[in-house]
Amino acid sequence: MPITTCIFDAYGTLFDVNAAAREAAREPGRTALAEVWPKLAADWRSKQLEYTWLRAVAGQHCDFWQVTQDGLDWALEAAKLDDEELRETLLALYWQLSAFPEVPDMLAELQGAGFKTGILSNGSPEMLEGAVKSAGLSELLNATLSVETVGIFKPHVTVYDMVCDHFGCANDEVLFVSSNGWDACGAAGYGFQTAWVNRGGAPMDRLYAKPHHVLADLTTIPALV
Ligand code: LAC
Repeated sequence: MPITTCIFDAYGTLFDVNAAAREAAREPGRTALAEVWPKLAADWRSKQLEYTWLRAVAGQHCDFWQVTQDGLDWALEAAKLDDEELRETLLALYWQLSAFPEVPDMLAELQGAGFKTGILSNGSPEMLEGAVKSAGLSELLNATLSVETVGIFKPHVTVYDMVCDHFGCANDEVLFVSSNGWDACGAAGYGFQTAWVNRGGAPMDRLYAKPHHVLADLTTIPALV
């Protein structure tokens, strides 16, 4: 089937999850953070994701805002940054993460060519609305789908089911794009066409399926479909 629908993961794929720590580290008086922000950002992200998988397996769902705070608290403690004001600053920045620079043009090109576009994310509806609005992407997306509708995190199949339920399309009409290797593999195993955006040159995850395409960034998505 030809692709009709292009669906994007949100955090790390459209939105730069490192932007919060990077921007906070640039503020005056943040010397301690400036020294450790790349590790803090990496720990924050990996704990946030780890908690989504553990909660999904254990049947202990909470929303993504909770695991985002829990992951940050772990990362701040690991970095020995006991600073409530910094915590609040980082969390506030998470609601307005910048989009990667190529995102608006790429989405506009897809819509101009007649493709449906959307987000499928672990993020809560409120978090996603904040990020989409602050990045100016509202008009460029036909749908923003949150796992809160099904109450379990990716890569559970009921999450991927939401796309075809919403758009009324077949699995193989969907190109699912994620910078998270495990999410791209999960979506490929589900039956979507998939592209893994491997900005960091990471090794391929060893999982039950492999993404169909591996890209350096999002600029080539319109040409791909
Ligand atoms: C998301 C996470 C996986 O947006 O980044 O779903």
